[in-house]
Amino acid sequence: MLKDKVAVVTGSSRGIGFEIAKEFAGRGATVVVCSRSMAGAEKSARMIKGKAYPERLDVTDRAGVTKFMRQLIDRHRRVDILVNNAGYRFDRKIWTKRFHEVAEEDFDRVSQVDLKGTLRLCHSALPFMIKNGGGVIINISSTPAVSGHTEGAPYTVAKAGVIAITKHIALEYGDKNIRAYTLALGNISSEATFSSMTVTERKNAAMENSMKRWGDPTEVARVAASLASDDFSFATGNTIVIDGGTVLL
Ligand SMILES: NC(=O)c1ccc[n+]([C@@H]2O[C@H](COP(=O)([O-])OP(=O)(O)OC[C@H]3O[C@@H](n4cnc5c(N)ncnc54)[C@H](OP(=O)(O)O)[C@@H]3O)[C@@H](O)[C@H]2O)c1
Repeated sequence: MLKDKVAVVTGSSRGIGFEIAKEFAGRGATVVVCSRSMAGAEKSARMIKGKAYPERLDVTDRAGVTKFMRQLIDRHRRVDILVNNAGYRFDRKIWTKRFHEVAEEDFDRVSQVDLKGTLRLCHSALPFMIKNGGGVIINISSTPAVSGHTEGAPYTVAKAGVIAITKHIALEYGDKNIRAYTLALGNISSEATFSSMTVTERKNAAMENSMKRWGDPTEVARVAASLASDDFSFATGNTIVIDGGTVLL
């Protein structure tokens, strides 16, 4: 149960973030549903039964992140759970470039959202978690960050940095009752990922793992909710791979 917990899920207007926010609210948490568009956040929050509050949040805007966290504390008094889910949209042009052809600007663009966005939110939430006697941070990464890949170098590099942030927080703040986890995802059938592929690509992606299928965003959401609960009270810093059995740690 996540009753009486206040949770922030970045990028929860749709896809995996939306399902995580919905699952948290279903388990009793007060959830802050975030999008760069207030209208988008409001629309998604309305679709969630339970305590879901819309907020505008662009994780690339440092001052905006600080303001967001201050307002959140004013309204809800605390932040118990932070899920860094916001991710730079899939860009096939960036994805298919050879490593030596990727422009530094491409690395920066992806990194501003996936890596530095995660960093900014952690920075702004940690002081309040310390003050409140604890918290849980869940960072969304990707299997290439664990095993490497031949495409999508900017994503892999940014998502590998996310794993480092998780480990650092776990070790540095364990004594403050703050736990941190990384979810390294395989092919999860969010609308964004699914619609970026041809039918053949989708079929091939499904065949990559031992279960021979795509994962559903709800399957990520249930793991996130368990991690955020007291069930995982003596585990921290872990990378949990959710990919139907491809990358085995
Ligand atoms: N789906 C997969 O197969 C897969 C695999 C591995 C990892 N992941 C990771 O899982 C996460 C969610 O993926 P998804 O497939 O659900 O993607 P999605 O449907 O494209 O959702 C991305 C979310 O991020 C938000 N976002 C984008 N830029 C943002 C910014 N600058 N500031 C704040 N929010 C921003 C979007 O919100 P607005 O547009 O409303 O602002 C949206 O809610 C991402 O981190 C992704 O890298 C996904």
